[in-house]
Amino acid sequence: MHEFSYCDGELYCEGVSLARLASEQGTPLYVYSARTIREHYRRLDKALAGLDHRVCFAMKANSNLAVLDLLAREGAGFDIVSGGELFRVLKAGGRAHDCTFAGVGKTREEIEYALEQGVYSFNVESEPELEFINEVAGAAGKKAPVALRVNPDVDAQTHKYISTGKSHNKFGIGIDRILGVYAEAAKLPHLQIRGIQTHIGSQILETKPFVEALAKLVPIVQELQSLYGIEFFSIGGGVGIIYRGTLESGAPDWWERADEDGGKRIGFDDYAQAVVPLLKPLGLKILLEPGRSLVGNAGVLLATVQYVKRTPAKTFVITDAGMNDLIRPALYEGHHEIVPLKEPSAGVPRGPVDVVGPVCESGDFFAQDRELPEVAAGDRLALLSAGAYGFVMASNYNSRRLPAEILVDGDKWGVARARQSWDDLIAGEKVAV
Ligand code: LLP
Repeated sequence: MHEFSYCDGELYCEGVSLARLASEQGTPLYVYSARTIREHYRRLDKALAGLDHRVCFAMKANSNLAVLDLLAREGAGFDIVSGGELFRVLKAGGRAHDCTFAGVGKTREEIEYALEQGVYSFNVESEPELEFINEVAGAAGKKAPVALRVNPDVDAQTHKYISTGKSHNKFGIGIDRILGVYAEAAKLPHLQIRGIQTHIGSQILETKPFVEALAKLVPIVQELQSLYGIEFFSIGGGVGIIYRGTLESGAPDWWERADEDGGKRIGFDDYAQAVVPLLKPLGLKILLEPGRSLVGNAGVLLATVQYVKRTPAKTFVITDAGMNDLIRPALYEGHHEIVPLKEPSAGVPRGPVDVVGPVCESGDFFAQDRELPEVAAGDRLALLSAGAYGFVMASNYNSRRLPAEILVDGDKWGVARARQSWDDLIAGEKVAV
């Protein structure tokens, strides 16, 4: 679900007109719906009600303080992957004890900071990392709580850049070696074995890969329970969202064409129905690390059409947003629906266009050969489903300022992050020698 729909010919986020936000705040502009995020969190939490569970938001998907604050208030913990993410959680009023710290390359500085703040668990991805955490904890006079990330070698059937659970991926410790590595961990004096973790990939649109991974892992988890009395099993994130045809209400039929992902999607209930029966008998605390499924459909990126360039080969709709603002189409050929903020009337001509940004790269596109209603310079567009891996992956490439972010809640809204100024662009730089 989401809270973006047309009302009286204008696209709204909850009770706020997006055209008004674009006029007042300029574009490119990210807008998030608080109600959608809350609702997603509650639906997932409810679907898992039969399990002793904790939802740890994978904040790499969207780390704005306002979003973290909102989820912390709902009771979420956080899956973090850097010292910077821990810093953000603490700034948002969250607690380190509600954080699990993942990632294949944790540095001494990050480990020291996480130990000092008291994270719930380090999710460890290799033997050298295990030894290093033991050493850093020893030097700090502490015991580090750890879980090993196990790579179950299953195919998540998703884009190759976001598949993480096959043996050729850099993530985790192979399932055939995991018990041996736990035995090693048990010998290290400055570690406390707390759990086990896995994550097989992202934007997964079927329950099958999750079930396959859990079926392989459950016997191992049981063995770890009896050997080390582990407290938790984190089953990672990865539940996919609908990117195509995501404006249900009032949408003209060109949005309602068949979902090109093959009509596949998993709702939280399907997911819960598939995984709960496998997990419940364990009697363990189950952690989840959803990112995209909580925030993806809760955000849009607003852009203004700068020019419409017609060539004999193509029509290019050139917007003021570019790949530096939203890199998913360029990096993963990710599909984002693009809709005008002013609802197009039924008779408006449509045609195939490329929607592109101003960045000096041919990869700087949001859509290619997409059937869109005719637009003109000055028109405003929304790129949908941009709440996850949108702003967080934005960069200053081409010396473009990072966009502002707005959080809407009902008919209230506020600036959750100010647009960068040109001075921000050069902060910290000087002629060095
Ligand atoms: N847990 C771990 C250990 C992860 O690596 C990830 C995502 C998650 C949880 C959350 O997965 P989610 O529920 O969001 O699928 N930038 C890419 C996605 C990268 C995902 C990285 N890891 C994209 O825009 O599609």
